[in-house]
Amino acid sequence: MRHRRPDPSGSGLRDVFAARRGGFGLDASGVWRYRELVFPDADSDVVTYPEGNTPLLERERVARWAAVSSLLMKHEGHNPTGSFKDRGMTVGISQARRLNARAVACASTGNTSASLAAYAALAGIPALVFVPIGQVAAGKLAQTLAYGAKTLLVRGDFDVCFTLAREASEKLNVYLLNSVNPFRLEGQKTIVLEMLEQLGWDPPDWIALPAGNLGNTSAFGKALLEALDVGLISRLPRLAAVQAQGANPFARSFRDGFARRHPVTAETVATAIRIGDPASHGRAVAAIRATKGVVADVSDDEILEAKAVVDASGAGCEPASAASVAGVRKLVEQGVIRKEERVVAILTGHVLKDPGILLRYHQEADPPPPRANHPIEIEPSLSAVEKVLGEGGR
Ligand code: F0G
Repeated sequence: MRHRRPDPSGSGLRDVFAARRGGFGLDASGVWRYRELVFPDADSDVVTYPEGNTPLLERERVARWAAVSSLLMKHEGHNPTGSFKDRGMTVGISQARRLNARAVACASTGNTSASLAAYAALAGIPALVFVPIGQVAAGKLAQTLAYGAKTLLVRGDFDVCFTLAREASEKLNVYLLNSVNPFRLEGQKTIVLEMLEQLGWDPPDWIALPAGNLGNTSAFGKALLEALDVGLISRLPRLAAVQAQGANPFARSFRDGFARRHPVTAETVATAIRIGDPASHGRAVAAIRATKGVVADVSDDEILEAKAVVDASGAGCEPASAASVAGVRKLVEQGVIRKEERVVAILTGHVLKDPGILLRYHQEADPPPPRANHPIEIEPSLSAVEKVLGEGGR
């Protein structure tokens, strides 16, 4: 999707964005504040929570674990439904309203469905979601039900759900809001725009993000190229897209120079990115090439360790999000990212999205994983509390 060139551009446009901070209405949204680059003509149709305005966190011990001197985390879990999906959904649902859609639909590993359900409720449009049965984290399924979407538990994986949702939307005249929808991607670009603004438009050397269906990787590439084109920034950061080893079709494809696609049967603890045949492959290839980026993959153990470190830093994130931090550590180890380079890792979802994995890791796993914080059962007495304290802090 191409918009007309904003006027002003460069520092003038930076001033326009800056003047909107702390404003009301559209300006209160960390998506619509950048509307010249997102959806210049939307106005009365806009459905906004508002969303965005997420923090850029510095956590010394996460940087130390990843072995880089400068690591910031853009925490998209601070969006209204707890994931970055709200940034795309506010734009997608606004377009659905413009089109007078009778209903909206998506296939999802859980976050898109939660976000779609909430924004459809906000807009008063019926929502239909297709999710893989037994493969959606508890927090996400609970949200989707609570916000009132018609929720179909499909006997198949995400890739099956996506094919079905696509077919249903074509045949049944329902507006499809997966990230193949260009309006979704326009909204997701603002993760990058907001982060660049938070850095005073001085780009980092690297942006690391988890990669599943590759919508976000595509949106990031587009955002960076446009930011460069309109003079918001003067050089491009490199993208590092990170997949789970059990769901790594894009990493496999990267390793053979993107000569072909490598669909896989996906399996990983990071259910958000449990995707074997990503829909936005082509656009994501373009994004990696244009930014001289890389694609890495990390094991489930590495994801869980990174997650435990991010969680224990007080930041907290869901498993898929931790793939970005695990990927940074791995790329530093491999010498791809240099220690002194400035890195921003995207945390895509909130720690409470997947309570099941937390309880398994900290309470149930036997033997306990190295960073498990096992709860301690006690008699209701002060001496029992004293005894625990005496055993020393961590
Ligand atoms: N992180 C989280 C928390 C996600 O939910 C997703 C995707 C990704 C990363 C990967 O982003 O697909 O654009 O490459 N979740 C989708 C969903 C598939 O249905 O919620 P991507």
